[in-house]
Amino acid sequence: MTTTSLRSALQSLPENAPEAVVDQHFSTQLLEALGFQSQEIHPQYPTGDGKAVDKAARKTIGDDIFIYTKSDPFLLLELKGRDCNLSSDAAQYQKTVHQLKHYLLAPNCKTVQWGIITNSCHIQLFRKHGKVIYPATQCLSLDNENIDEIVASIRRKIENPTKALTIAVYNNKGGVGKTTTTVNLAAILTFLGKRVLAIDFDPNQQDLTSSLGLPLSEGAVFEALRERSIEFISTLCPYKFPLKKVDSELRFDVIPADEELKDASDDLLRKRLKRNLLHRKLESARQEYDYILIDSPPNWRFFSQLAVYAADVILIPTKHNNLFSLENAAMAIKKFFPEIQKEKADGSPIPLPIFFNGEKITQPQLAVAQKEIANILKIAKKEGFDLLPYFYPRYTNARKDLHIPQVPSYANISGAAFSRTPAVYRYRTAHEYYKSLAKEYFLQ
Ligand SMILES: Nc1ncnc2c1ncn2[C@@H]1O[C@H](COP(=O)(O)OP(=O)(O)O)[C@@H](O)[C@H]1O
Ligand SMILES: [Mg+2]
Repeated sequence: MTTTSLRSALQSLPENAPEAVVDQHFSTQLLEALGFQSQEIHPQYPTGDGKAVDKAARKTIGDDIFIYTKSDPFLLLELKGRDCNLSSDAAQYQKTVHQLKHYLLAPNCKTVQWGIITNSCHIQLFRKHGKVIYPATQCLSLDNENIDEIVASIRRKIENPTKALTIAVYNNKGGVGKTTTTVNLAAILTFLGKRVLAIDFDPNQQDLTSSLGLPLSEGAVFEALRERSIEFISTLCPYKFPLKKVDSELRFDVIPADEELKDASDDLLRKRLKRNLLHRKLESARQEYDYILIDSPPNWRFFSQLAVYAADVILIPTKHNNLFSLENAAMAIKKFFPEIQKEKADGSPIPLPIFFNGEKITQPQLAVAQKEIANILKIAKKEGFDLLPYFYPRYTNARKDLHIPQVPSYANISGAAFSRTPAVYRYRTAHEYYKSLAKEYFLQ
């Protein structure tokens, strides 16, 4: 019944309805169609940093009614008028997404899991997981015919949020630290109390599996990928690190590399397996873990494509002194990821800003890297891509901040693989490095 009234609300809106009119005649109907009652919707919700978002919503929990307690918002809605163009190639769209992201990360919005932008002509849903915000739908154009269906599908998503953030660690260059990053992030997130699954999806190198001293799979992972009836996580192998306290340990789960997939030809794999396969196979794991990390090979072939398809976001290690690693990052962002985004059609996966891994950086070296990046950005701009947010996410016209996060070089990080233990469990310095990486990208 409510969705019918949403459709008539849309029909009755004047063609040039300004924000106030969209607010009055559309926004409440939309939130009701998403399952919220009037006491569960707070207009002009103060985000805690001096601004207010148009609407916040949260279901009643016991006798905690959102409009009265104003506590623990669940969803934010940023409204625009029809005079604001929200089609995804418009500048106003970028600005509005930016504004929503800002609200989602504001002090009073820590508990928020979803954000919506709409002007009643377009609508897009975003998911927030920790600090990470990524699209959960494409920017969709609304009309009388499709609005009920679109809003119903958004409602299904917000009522069944996946627990896990799935991260593919990727750069089509070898030796930049993909495997090291995957292992140590898995280990530090576990240490910080998160449930973590790490997947060794580089069957040719098998480095993740061997750096943890775990046995390789002898065909079981391949079989679980092929056979619909076999649960993918039935092939996992726990990595356990005993703690000094008796009977306690740290544990994260690992899907090991499969010997049988080593040297398998892309053609053969492609004939038998689809690109969405890993994504499908992780369906139940996404409800069980907080983080799923996927290590991928240094090329844009079968396993990388499946890993990127399965991911919500992609973490890209680079080296400041390796031009190829920077150019490859740009290439992946311009060409490879959009290919998958198009196929997946839910707005994901999105690349996270790059970081520098594992090299000492002097000021003159940094200046050289910045020159290379300026060049990469310039070339991309000519081709119609704005790569600035992926290299310098803090850069604004007002503050030309060229910050790039880094994991410094530290011999014990590479040495740890010999002892079959993640460096973060052995060395305080490594522990601190990866803790700040986890905080920089993921933890709120
Ligand atoms: N922060 C770091 N400090 C020192 N050595 C590192 C660091 N990160 C990675 N390494 C080392 O660099 C090499 C390449 O890293 P690896 O993770 O295997 O790269 P990839 O998976 O991208 O091929 C390994 O020997 C690894 O131990
Ligand atoms: Mg590797």
